[in-house]
Amino acid sequence: MQQRQTSYDAIPYPSNPFRQTRPERLAGIAKLFGLDAPPAEHCRVLEIGCSMGGNLIAMAQDLPGSRFIGIDASARQIADGWKMIDALGLRNIELKHLDILDVPPDMGEFDYIVSHGVFSWVPARVQNKMLEICQRHLAPKGVAYISYNTYPGWHIRGIVRDMMFYRSTHFADPQARLAQAKSLVAFVAEATKGADTPYGRLLQSEIKHITQMEDYYLHHEHLEENNQPLYFHDFASRLAVNGLQYLGDADFSTMVSTNFSPAVAKKLHEIGAHDIVQMEQYMDFVRCRYFRKSLVCRSAARLNRTLTPAVVRDLLLASDAAPAAASGETHTFRTPGGHTITCRSGATKAALEALRAAWPMPIAFRDLFGQAGGGDEAAMEFLAGEMLTCMAAGVVEWRLTPVPFTTTVGKQPAATALARYQAERGYKVTNMRGETITLDEMHRQTLKVLDGARDVAALTESLMGALARGELVLQRDEDKTTVKDETEMRRLLGPAIEKVLVNLARRALLQAARA
Ligand SMILES: C[S@@+](CC[C@H](N)C(=O)[O-])C[C@H]1O[C@@H](n2cnc3c(N)ncnc32)[C@H](O)[C@@H]1O
Repeated sequence: MQQRQTSYDAIPYPSNPFRQTRPERLAGIAKLFGLDAPPAEHCRVLEIGCSMGGNLIAMAQDLPGSRFIGIDASARQIADGWKMIDALGLRNIELKHLDILDVPPDMGEFDYIVSHGVFSWVPARVQNKMLEICQRHLAPKGVAYISYNTYPGWHIRGIVRDMMFYRSTHFADPQARLAQAKSLVAFVAEATKGADTPYGRLLQSEIKHITQMEDYYLHHEHLEENNQPLYFHDFASRLAVNGLQYLGDADFSTMVSTNFSPAVAKKLHEIGAHDIVQMEQYMDFVRCRYFRKSLVCRSAARLNRTLTPAVVRDLLLASDAAPAAASGETHTFRTPGGHTITCRSGATKAALEALRAAWPMPIAFRDLFGQAGGGDEAAMEFLAGEMLTCMAAGVVEWRLTPVPFTTTVGKQPAATALARYQAERGYKVTNMRGETITLDEMHRQTLKVLDGARDVAALTESLMGALARGELVLQRDEDKTTVKDETEMRRLLGPAIEKVLVNLARRALLQAARA
């Protein structure tokens, strides 16, 4: 590929993991709608616009039996990604410096094609090519993930983007472009402050959004030439002309109209229940949705949109929802992300409690049924229905196959090579759920040396080294004073490390033994 400089070479996009794009998650959603997508443990994945591979590298590490190819037009980002791949010694992943428009017809077949944050940021002909790639290269039962900015939300955000973009075109230097664009928004917001008009209110809320976002994001979201949001129904129509269809949303709970108030849900049902595209579009109008994460499959794939509890029986379930309120027989559970469910049955309550105790380890539904009291066929059907309701509410997660991590702290625990590599360089690491976890110094120093060959005594020696080098400071729990005496350090380090290991296990950072 020609060495053309792109805006991502000038201002690279930090490359993060996106757990909603992982094959095991995509297979889980497909299963709900009757599509048996290829197993995540033995699949082929293509990522379009993979940046430095922050998403794909984590998947490649956690799914060693699968193969991964990422493409991106930024030579600099691809080169950075390869540095990490080489350092980790991964053999099941390849990053290619390749423009989407140049993807050759003989690229091969993929079970999963994922593209996060690309589709609405490229010109129409590149968008068309992305859909063509899905049409040509997606396996018959494969799933594609495409995220994009959408309307009506972007009609609102677009007002601010338009003014920022316009201002930025008068400057050449990237830093000046952003600074000037931000200061124009600040000026307009100030000038309209106090005006109790829809425009004034909109600007006040958008300025809040802009101040929360990082510069690289604003560069690529508000100052790029291409940012072409589209309505969901337009997206669905474009799928159809490319032999593709909408499968579902990466966030299943957004597809469920009963998550609205009963009156809104009733009206949505009346006007949209006969057609999934219409239903989703009406929900976007109600929510004023800005962003979509759509799952796509071939038009020829036969889907079953009728959700039944039977599907839950083959799933592994996980939940971190905690009891939030109780009144009589009624119990409310809430996840840290704010999803809630209110249940009246003792079995459902027991199941949610069992899931929370096991978190982040999933439990097979049939085992969970036993832990929640068991019973006859009708009881099993009931609990499956309750769990389906919890899944629809965003309270319970599901997957089809076991996880690559363990929540049991073994004698010589191991973190992944990726997490250790990241911990060597900073405080943010990727766990085996595909999430970014921020560590403090003590957890970072411990994680760095979790190579599966050290027990607590050996870890203590490693951390003594970090203390001696001044990289770590040990404080007494009681008064937060610094420990300086070596004997006391050794005495305190053992229990401290044990606590750290439990925390790392609870964050899906300890690797399960591989068969
Ligand atoms: C907004 S970033 C998203 C990166 C990553 N997927 C993420 O979400 O963090 C868009 C990415 O698409 C890549 N890209 C844009 N146009 C492209 C094209 N025509 N061919 C290949 N990659 C392209 C950019 O280089 C950039 O890495």
